Amino acid sequence: MDSNDIRKKFVEFFKRNGHQEFESSSLVPDDETLLFTTAGMVQMVPYLLREKDIEYPRVCSIQKSFRTVDIDRIGEDGRHLTFFEMLGSWSFGDYYKEEAIRLAFELLTKEYGIEKDKLWVSVFKGDKNIPEDKESYEHWLNIGIPQDRIVKLGRDNFWGPTSEEGPCGPSTEIYFDQGEGICIKKEYVCCKKNKCIPGCDCDRFLEIWNAGVFMEYFKDVNGIFSKLPFTNVDTGAGLERLSLVLQGKKSVFETDLFYPLIENIKKHTPEKDKFNINSAYLIADHVKASVFLISDGVLPSNEYRGYILRRIIRRMFYHKTFIGNNDGGFIDLIEKVIDIYKDQYPNISDLDRIQNVLFSEDLLYSNTILKGIKKLEDMIKDKKIILGEDLFKLHDTYGLSLDMSKDILKAKGIKFDERGFQENMRRQQERSRMNSTFSLGKGMESDFSDFPKTEFLGYDILSLKDAKVLYSQRNGDDVTFILDKTTFYAEGGGQVGDSGKVVGNELEVDVSNVKKTKLGVYLHFGKVVNGDIKEGDFVSCYVDKEKREKASFNHTAVHLLNEAVKKILGNDVSQKGAFIDSERMRFDFNFPRALTEDEIKAIEDLVNLNISKNEEIEVLEKNFDDVKKMGVDLAFEDRYDKNSKLRVVKIGDFSVELCGGTHFGNTSSLGHFKITKQESASKGIRRIRAILE
Ligand code: ALA
Repeated sequence: MDSNDIRKKFVEFFKRNGHQEFESSSLVPDDETLLFTTAGMVQMVPYLLREKDIEYPRVCSIQKSFRTVDIDRIGEDGRHLTFFEMLGSWSFGDYYKEEAIRLAFELLTKEYGIEKDKLWVSVFKGDKNIPEDKESYEHWLNIGIPQDRIVKLGRDNFWGPTSEEGPCGPSTEIYFDQGEGICIKKEYVCCKKNKCIPGCDCDRFLEIWNAGVFMEYFKDVNGIFSKLPFTNVDTGAGLERLSLVLQGKKSVFETDLFYPLIENIKKHTPEKDKFNINSAYLIADHVKASVFLISDGVLPSNEYRGYILRRIIRRMFYHKTFIGNNDGGFIDLIEKVIDIYKDQYPNISDLDRIQNVLFSEDLLYSNTILKGIKKLEDMIKDKKIILGEDLFKLHDTYGLSLDMSKDILKAKGIKFDERGFQENMRRQQERSRMNSTFSLGKGMESDFSDFPKTEFLGYDILSLKDAKVLYSQRNGDDVTFILDKTTFYAEGGGQVGDSGKVVGNELEVDVSNVKKTKLGVYLHFGKVVNGDIKEGDFVSCYVDKEKREKASFNHTAVHLLNEAVKKILGNDVSQKGAFIDSERMRFDFNFPRALTEDEIKAIEDLVNLNISKNEEIEVLEKNFDDVKKMGVDLAFEDRYDKNSKLRVVKIGDFSVELCGGTHFGNTSSLGHFKITKQESASKGIRRIRAILE
């Protein structure tokens, strides 16, 4: 049965059983906190939580998905992938465990014709939070799966949430027994144990369907579980694995979804003794994932989603070089991916664009990564084991990701200290977290109490010359420094500190954040790119204009949001915090329940209405009594010095707030305001995440 027929049969079966088909959503989810769409349930979360009204209590979909959890294993066995398609079905408070199990069993055995005796299942064995799933166990027995083919598992059989918080529950999974013969070929992995059962990490028992996550729990940001007042079923079967079974193959790479790609890679690898099947699998997986990510708007970069894409593209190019897959054929390979999928996902057909992105990344790759690879090869010459510190340096300085270093070292049989790498990584993250989120502790405050207040000129200008360095402390390339005057905005009022460059005589520093002490001393944090920065030097400041502008627009949007929330939800609601950077905004306020879809829409509409009014954003200096008279919300009154002039930001007649943030221009520059997520921040506090698009 080819993969098209498998998709078709799946959808027809669930439609026949009363399900409404939903289209696949993008690999880039609406939820900004979630890296990628990792499962069919991602677009269903608002229904699973009843934040959206349930129009269809039974739903099914074929969802393109991308996961990085198994990225290390790609190519090493016959079943792990980054990009895959998930055949999923849902019940929102309609049927539950018994029917979900019946539907899955019927589709597999009757429609797809899989031998019942090859199927095993697992159920959740319970833990300290959630009880054992005895009902599913009973339903499987009743449907005809013998006791010795039902295993009870722990964490493997609990699923979700996909985000910081969300719906989750115990699951029951179905496995296909590929038989012991699976270990005879080197491209399949076998545990070589006599008694291998589902849950073992080898290729023998292939999980083909998560036949039901019984989502009746909610896990919050603090890891606390609570029972939802309703039940849900969430299922997901990997199309590639079903194809493997139904096409009588042993590896997903032998199915019609991969075979043409592997053939292309073989054909264009002229030196047959250099060819290795594991690299071919990896190239095929990564090129496919890249095509889909690029088509959904992700571009290679050093941040967030773009960084993952960059990593997989570079790793793919590395493996191409490694096996000598360089006899042309790359465009043909991309075309083959498009051919396999264009009917199901027409948006991937832009060959020119995909090709351009991949080729420009290849150029960059050749320039930087090859230096890193050379460095690693030099290290290998005189070392038996590569230390975590060195792996980290390759990553940090040469952009050589851990997975790429590992591929190289594994191929040469050299040991490496992955834990050491993770430890270095953790320390670096801690350092940058310190730079970006800590408020200056008491010790720090007093450390800088002798410095004069920094003159901040950044409300009016973004660059200046001849700022004097009053203090500088270096730790490797990391540097913290104080200037007598600056254009860099220091973190405050929820808005991130500016980033940009500080330059001087043969000096270049990338400034990543700025904070200020209570006495108004600005601490600049950054990395030295060139030269040294010393007390007494004179330097120029250049704030990153684009980032500042975007952060300012987002900050203005938060003011509009603050007012809109009050107008729609009532005046008892007040702001409890905010975080604003150039990409997004987060706004916390007191409110006892989730907002309805109508309330979210009304808030969005009110913000957008005020954006469209094209109001000038006025920044006024007022004394405290005048501010009170203007009716300003003084929620954070104690933060302001009542004896000096206060900054008031006024947007038409709609919003007026005390604010030290950067605002300018008029509302028409903001674009369209969109709420991407609402969630609970803590008890009684709701959080809205939003963007300007
Ligand atoms: N959401 C479940 C999974 O991805 C079905 O396994």
